[in-house]
Amino acid sequence: MRPNYRHLISAILFISCSTFLNASTLQDPISSLDDNEVDTFVLGKSFFRTPWVEAPSATTARDGLGPLFSANTCTSCHPENGKGSVYNDKGHISRSLVTRLSLDLDQNTTTKIGFIPEPTYGSQLSINAIHGVPHEGRASRSYINKSVLLDENRTVILHRPIYGVTELQYGALSKDAIISQRVAPALIGLGLLEQISDEQLLANEDIDDKDRDGISGKANRVYSPKTSQIEIGRYNWKADVSTLKVQIAGAMSDDMGLTSHLYPDERCTDSQKACLDSPKGRDRFDVTMKRLDAVTFYLKSLKAPQIREDEHYENGLKLFRRLSCASCHTPTFTLDDGEKVHPFSDLLLHDMGKDLADGRVEFQATGTEFRTPPLWGISIYSKILKNRVNYLHDGRAKTIEEAILWHSGEAEQSKNSFIRSSPDQQKVLIDFVERL
Ligand code: HEC
Ligand code: HEC
Repeated sequence: MRPNYRHLISAILFISCSTFLNASTLQDPISSLDDNEVDTFVLGKSFFRTPWVEAPSATTARDGLGPLFSANTCTSCHPENGKGSVYNDKGHISRSLVTRLSLDLDQNTTTKIGFIPEPTYGSQLSINAIHGVPHEGRASRSYINKSVLLDENRTVILHRPIYGVTELQYGALSKDAIISQRVAPALIGLGLLEQISDEQLLANEDIDDKDRDGISGKANRVYSPKTSQIEIGRYNWKADVSTLKVQIAGAMSDDMGLTSHLYPDERCTDSQKACLDSPKGRDRFDVTMKRLDAVTFYLKSLKAPQIREDEHYENGLKLFRRLSCASCHTPTFTLDDGEKVHPFSDLLLHDMGKDLADGRVEFQATGTEFRTPPLWGISIYSKILKNRVNYLHDGRAKTIEEAILWHSGEAEQSKNSFIRSSPDQQKVLIDFVERL
């Protein structure tokens, strides 16, 4: 019997297409690394993935965790370098949903961290601590439903989270505390985002909406502890950090209680005595400059997912532009060396309306503003998180459609154009985004 080659070939094509973007895509290095660079990549990767332990310990290379912390590895919140989730697989609130705390600040007041921390708990609620130190508390949330009529036949129910905290170990939060919950973003193409020049970002700013398209866009201007200068913000949901190295040192400090030359102090507030008195590591900093550089090199050298520029992509892109999604989710930037990158973000802040607002100011970002999140690699999130996939800063949307329907403020018209599109067109747009 002749084998049916056509079926065989389509099966091979199917398998290779469906594995084109998988979770390991986010962990592969760019191909141009030399032997020394590969060593640094591997070293950085190991500090990213291997658990840190309390000091003092037999392994000084990885001790210094805490006293207060939320997780002992980077991967626990950025699984396989992808996005975190609101709930873990047991249905409890996941550690990758971080609770930021602050007091109200008017934008014109300048501080070196961009906000005023809550006096007792500091800038972020730590859900863990080393032995003998009470942890701070845990995140909680409840939901209010909101229905959106898509057409006569279809209503979508959206779930708006109300942020809360529970198990507080150091007394009540200040009555003016602002709580903001954020899911850990995917760590994709971060080195490429750093190479987009300030001039290119600023060229897309339109703070006073001079072109009157309803979309303004503003770069965040943030203090850098590395240069002691004000720089253009690029990272995090409110673009409050300008460079990858500072972001990583900040993550080490906020999320794991690891000190470095950029963040030299433990995160204990004056009211946390056990934290202040806890044993210190043998060295001045938990993380040496060399190790911080290695983790930075690791994240910088990860390959960005490739775009398949086929007919499907071109059609989707036309619609993406027509519905003004591209006015904020900028499809392409050309780097100084001529390389074209496709982050689908302008890295600028936009007012997204009161329903998405978290009320938290970070440098120039107001309580209603967020950085346009890059959409590249979005197709991989669901492969890593399966049915726990979630979108938006607090992970409130379970589908791309829900994420679009939450858009408001500067994106109100764009969202309404989506709602008014035919069901077929809506599907083309969603398929396009799901394949990025
Ligand atoms: C407890 C969970 C948690 C841990 C542990 C954690 N992160 Fe994150 N990470 C987050 C959250 C949440 C954000 C977004 C914060 C925000 O927007 O304010 C983030 C943001 C980032 C970003 C910015 C990404 C972007 O697109 O702008 C980088 C880079 C990053 N983390 C790297 C790391 C590294 C490296 C480690 C380990 C040293 C680490 N993170 C540990 C939760 C975590
Ligand atoms: C005015 C600027 C603007 C426009 C226009 C806009 N977006 Fe967004 N988009 C944002 C911002 C800002 C966020 C993050 C909001 C948040 O997390 O609260 C976002 C979030 C998203 C997300 C979630 C990404 C993630 O990783 O969680 C998706 C998907 C998305 N947008 C798709 C679209 C599509 C499709 C359109 C067109 C119908 C569109 N956006 C139009 C600014 C915009």
